[in-house]
Amino acid sequence: MDLVLSHRTQILYIADISFVIMYLEVVPGCLVLESGTRSGSLTTSLARAVAPTGHVHTFDFHEQRAASARDDFERTGLSSLISVRVRDIQGEGFPNEFAGLADAVFLDLPQPWLAIPSAEKMLKQYGTLCSFSPCVEQVQRSCETL
Ligand SMILES: C[S@@+](CC[C@H](N)C(=O)[O-])C[C@H]1O[C@@H](n2cnc3c(N)ncnc32)[C@H](O)[C@@H]1O
Repeated sequence: MDLVLSHRTQILYIADISFVIMYLEVVPGCLVLESGTRSGSLTTSLARAVAPTGHVHTFDFHEQRAASARDDFERTGLSSLISVRVRDIQGEGFPNEFAGLADAVFLDLPQPWLAIPSAEKMLKQYGTLCSFSPCVEQVQRSCETL
């Protein structure tokens, strides 16, 4: 028997999305930064929560995933609320143009602790950060960095 190992990224579902949006205190008018985008499952709900005057900037280093999410946002009429960019957030951090402007930052990355120093720079005073990780080791390293 062959053993096939595959690495598949997971998307967020409604129970977690509701929790994340409530604890991030995302309301109409907020500016939110997110990485990674993947399917845009969370991004879609974030966009609905910040509408009509806020904006979600979402970043993924995988060009095809970013392009596919961008297409979905256009099809669902959310593209005016969402900007999708290709960027290695663990390596480069978020763009400096958002420093001190974000009401909330959401991380769903394999090594989120690498992005936490940049996330801190992006947040407004009293802004909120959420890092979503499936493994306790990821949570421990993120907590140490925080
Ligand atoms: C678990 S998925 C995110 C799922 C997303 N929250 C959703 O609800 O659909 C993780 C994503 O992070 C992206 N990613 C991994 N490393 C990254 C990095 N260094 N910079 C930016 N994106 C990265 C992957 O390409 C993948 O799309």
